[in-house]
Amino acid sequence: MKSYIIEGGKRLEGTVKVSGSKNASLPILAATILNGNSNRLYNVPDIRDTKITLEILKLLGCKIKRNSGKIEINSKNITKTEIVDHLMRKMRSTVILAGALLGRFKEVTFSYPGGCDIGSRPIDLHLNAFKKLGVEITEEAGFIKCKANKIIGTNIDLDFPSVGATENIILATVLSEGTTVINNAAMEPEIVDLANYLKKMGAKIEGAGTISITIKGVKKLSGASYNIMPDRIEAGTLLCAVAGSGGSVTLNDVNPNHLSAVINKLEECGCEIEITNKTIFLKAPKRLKPLEIKTMPYPGFPTDLQQIFSAMLTKANGTSIIIENIFENRYKHLAELRKMGAKITTEGKTAIISGVRKLNSATTVCTDLRGGAALVIAGIMAKGKTKIEDIDYILRGYENIDAKLNSLGAKVKIIEEK
Ligand code: EPZ
Repeated sequence: MKSYIIEGGKRLEGTVKVSGSKNASLPILAATILNGNSNRLYNVPDIRDTKITLEILKLLGCKIKRNSGKIEINSKNITKTEIVDHLMRKMRSTVILAGALLGRFKEVTFSYPGGCDIGSRPIDLHLNAFKKLGVEITEEAGFIKCKANKIIGTNIDLDFPSVGATENIILATVLSEGTTVINNAAMEPEIVDLANYLKKMGAKIEGAGTISITIKGVKKLSGASYNIMPDRIEAGTLLCAVAGSGGSVTLNDVNPNHLSAVINKLEECGCEIEITNKTIFLKAPKRLKPLEIKTMPYPGFPTDLQQIFSAMLTKANGTSIIIENIFENRYKHLAELRKMGAKITTEGKTAIISGVRKLNSATTVCTDLRGGAALVIAGIMAKGKTKIEDIDYILRGYENIDAKLNSLGAKVKIIEEK
């Protein structure tokens, strides 16, 4: 098992480059299935989630060449439409491959996806949308079989602006007959990135990034190359690590427009922020002010940064309130923060964080991807050596996060234990 040993108490300062977006890369990797041609993707983060997705594409029959962030994928010889179970279960976003395989082959077999335990994470919105598009769905022995003679465009009203369901509907309909309109669509920047890549292939998509997206099916898509957008959640994580340490940082290769709700909250808790079109500069105060945060679909405050903010606010000068509105079980990391002396209580979907003067180093355990990142931030803020066990959760979603933090003056070491 891999663990971090973090020697805390250091103010972080310096400059760091943000990697490509995990949550944009995953649907874009799936989209390469659609054109049966060669594709070149740049700025793809080298993390476990992209590695698993590439492994599944290879097993389906794709030819893949990877050279760090540059990936060549030729999907001409895909011979299978079944996603292997043991890889399907390793993460949530494998379900996105279903939409792409349906879009091209009009059939797919897969099992329920895995992913961080931050809630039940059903896929009912995905499956209901497929049914509305004319897909026949049967379930047997834990496998979901989808088949359609034709995918026929239609109007789909999402009960919730689900990111994955929006992505899956787009992937399933770019090669369909007719036109699909998604109402109450997710507006996350990752949806816009996916649509931009598909439009480079020749797809006809209007309205990505708004509440209503129109997809006009086309007969064929060509190969295309694409540069993945920066990871806005990694950017927010780095900003919070520096703010929690009372330091200063310049982030390069970031899109500040993707982080306006987050930047607004960082300014509200006393940070000085300056932005250009590709950089964010942050200078933290000696002690942060408390905040009230409610997670919402984009462009509201992102649920993926709620846990990270909860760690940063453990030493704020007052009581902070966090309300998690997206997932029903995204507070498991709080018990680990309490081990370090944080004063946090929860009441349903509300977390109440009373700021303390100091955090104590402790041995903690990762509960999920972003909860693990929260523990790293707490370790940097605590005096002494903190151990964080089971960091595979963190390695699946952040590219070289320890090296990035160490380049800012943190002391994060990886150890391997039997
Ligand atoms: C994506 O997950 C992201 N993952 C998540 O990031 C992110 O937290 C989430 O969007 C919300 O922004 C990837 O892009 C790979 P949803 P997704 O469908 O698509 C419920 C991270 O840390 N729901 O928008 O799974 C669901 O249970 C990860 O990088 C249904 O009820 O999120 C949740 O409560 C964590 N039925 C809410 O909607 C469905 O069919 C939002 O889920 C689908 C979703």
